[in-house]
Amino acid sequence: MSFAFCNGLVLSGVHLFDNPKNHIHTLSCNGAVFSHLTITAPKDAPNTDGINIAESTGVQIYNCTIGTDDCISVLNHTSNVNISYITCGPGHGISIGSLGKDGSVGIVEQIHVSHSKFTGTMNGVRIKTWQGGSGYVRGISFRDIILDQVQTAIDI
Ligand SMILES: *[C@@H]1O[C@H](CO)[C@@H](O)[C@H](O)[C@H]1NC(C)=O
Ligand SMILES: *[C@@H]1O[C@H](CO)[C@@H](O)[C@H](O)[C@H]1NC(C)=O
Ligand SMILES: *[C@@H]1O[C@H](CO)[C@@H](O)[C@H](O)[C@H]1NC(C)=O
Repeated sequence: MSFAFCNGLVLSGVHLFDNPKNHIHTLSCNGAVFSHLTITAPKDAPNTDGINIAESTGVQIYNCTIGTDDCISVLNHTSNVNISYITCGPGHGISIGSLGKDGSVGIVEQIHVSHSKFTGTMNGVRIKTWQGGSGYVRGISFRDIILDQVQTAIDI
């Protein structure tokens, strides 16, 4: 499901599964709220991200169960995102980035992840950047996170 250039989107109570690529992608969606979603894909299916947030501000994601590649990934030009009460796994955890590919500018700020549990994931929370890029990632918090059978808890 792809949402672009929308304000005040609310998506709740949907089960998405086995998509061949990202399950939910947003581009320039301000004030979006995602809750009570279940998103699942096979453990070994690459690039089946649960929720991608790009070029958006003021986004809330809460009470979701996600087992995909990246559970949630926060991409460039995104700010003020609160992520809470997420159950994530299997997969690669919650990511910011990748940013700065091919020497580009990456800017992400005010992303708060809390009250979330990761089970059997490769990573917990991570920030991914490419060499040679510029910009910044700031105002990030990861709080009250439970990690169970996670290979790398925090990866920056
Ligand atoms: C995220 O949480 C912070 C701190 O509680 C709050 O100031 C901010 O408005 C929240 N943002 C959204 C999009 O809910
Ligand atoms: C979200 O889940 C938490 C933990 O299960 C629960 O305490 C809270 O009431 C839920 N919030 C909503 C809005 O459903
Ligand atoms: C990332 O977003 C910033 C603005 O926040 C913009 O200047 C930059 O060009 C964007 N980078 C890419 C690769 O689109």
